[in-house]
Amino acid sequence: MNKPQIIKTVREWQRLNFNGQSLGFVPTMGALHAGHLSLIRKAKEQNAITAVSIYVNPTQFNDKTDFENYPSTIESDILALSKEGVDYLFLPNYSELYPDAYSFRVNELNLSKVLCGQNRPGHFAGVLTVVLKLLNIIRPQRAYFGQKDYQQYTLIKEMCKAFFLPVEIIGCKTVREKDGLALSSRNKLLDKKQRALATKFSQTLCAQKSIPDMESELIKLGFNVDYIEEHFGRRFGAVRLGQVRLIDNVEL
Ligand code: PAJ
Repeated sequence: MNKPQIIKTVREWQRLNFNGQSLGFVPTMGALHAGHLSLIRKAKEQNAITAVSIYVNPTQFNDKTDFENYPSTIESDILALSKEGVDYLFLPNYSELYPDAYSFRVNELNLSKVLCGQNRPGHFAGVLTVVLKLLNIIRPQRAYFGQKDYQQYTLIKEMCKAFFLPVEIIGCKTVREKDGLALSSRNKLLDKKQRALATKFSQTLCAQKSIPDMESELIKLGFNVDYIEEHFGRRFGAVRLGQVRLIDNVEL
């Protein structure tokens, strides 16, 4: 079991030479779980070399406490990456990624304004900006994103098209717990009672009911509902249990 080579600076990354071998890249914010690992396995299958980044990106958190509470499990993350046989871990800090102090950013004017964009102002500008920076640094042939964050995946795919980035964006199926809850680093923040209740969120999204019925059912159970909406043949939902925000989407 080999540890991935850890690269912390842009300069160090740019000195690497892959001799034309294909490079697959999985950007993450760490606290790795089986959802992340499914992206990593796909990247390993399809490329000679695999790189993962871990960076909790402050510019995409519209809520300061959400950023401060974001779980960090770097030692066990590195162990998981070693087990998967990942070649490189890119682990930058703020000044490395934001030499401009976020003076430049990617603004999308349509899809980023609905669903999660409506409840989280500035969120997608932060996501698109950091992903553009990471893709420009890493320069992979392929990059992997989960359909659990379907709006994010779609926006990143469209951004790469809009800016002619020479990368293939690959969407990967949502990995779920046995009871249906979509895996998420934020699930670690749920207490026992909240975790038991969280299963009702994915169950309700899959039910054959009207949206107002789903919303009132979830509210009765104790969820705060940010939205349930249908777009592009999918049903999207975002709810809050205490401080923890959960999102999910299912194909209709
Ligand atoms: P993070 O939440 O760590 O997720 C990293 C990648 O794993 C994303 O593409 C996400 O969609 C995917 N993922 C998370 N849970 C999943 C699940 N249950 N099944 C399948 N894939 C899953 O998303 C981010 O980080 C950040 O916004 C990032 C893109 C890294 C930019 O900062």
